[in-house]
Amino acid sequence: MSFSNFSPILLKLIAILGVSGSLLQVVAQEPPSIWSGIYTTDQSARGESVYREECAECHREDLTGQDMSPSLIGIGFTFKWEGKNLQELYASMRYGMPQTSPGRLSNGQYAALTAYLLEKNGFPSGDTELTSDEDELAQIEITSNR
Ligand code: HEC
Repeated sequence: MSFSNFSPILLKLIAILGVSGSLLQVVAQEPPSIWSGIYTTDQSARGESVYREECAECHREDLTGQDMSPSLIGIGFTFKWEGKNLQELYASMRYGMPQTSPGRLSNGQYAALTAYLLEKNGFPSGDTELTSDEDELAQIEITSNR
């Protein structure tokens, strides 16, 4: 049998795959942009009070850092996190901070801290709270491109 006998079937298969592929694209939701308002101001305010209690002694009240504790704001934040995703930022706190007792806070508190860092770095708030679901967080890129 020659290849040409198969090619019509192959073409049909490719066509079917193509159609279902575009259907999938319609069904699958676009991941939200970090610029679309992905946390609430209530949530970042909760994050701020946790921050003052648990983090400011090392990273300072104004988030600029000191000694071994890196800055969590401005160019220091951008340099470290640009192009990464929110799960990576969340996880650095969820599994690493506070440095003396990592993971001691609740998932909701870590999400609130993430929201607070977003606010302090100029990302806009919106109507829905930021999730602590790491699969969902992994969909959201940290980018300065609006
Ligand atoms: C005892 C001091 C101390 C405390 C308290 C502390 N941190 Fe840290 N933090 C550090 C040090 C040191 C590093 C860098 C080394 C590392 O990543 O483990 C760091 C790293 C980080 C990073 C990664 C930043 C980067 O550029 O790598 C984040 C985000 C962070 N801290 C947030 C927090 C938050 C939020 C809290 C409060 C829940 C907190 N930290 C409490 C000392 C501290």
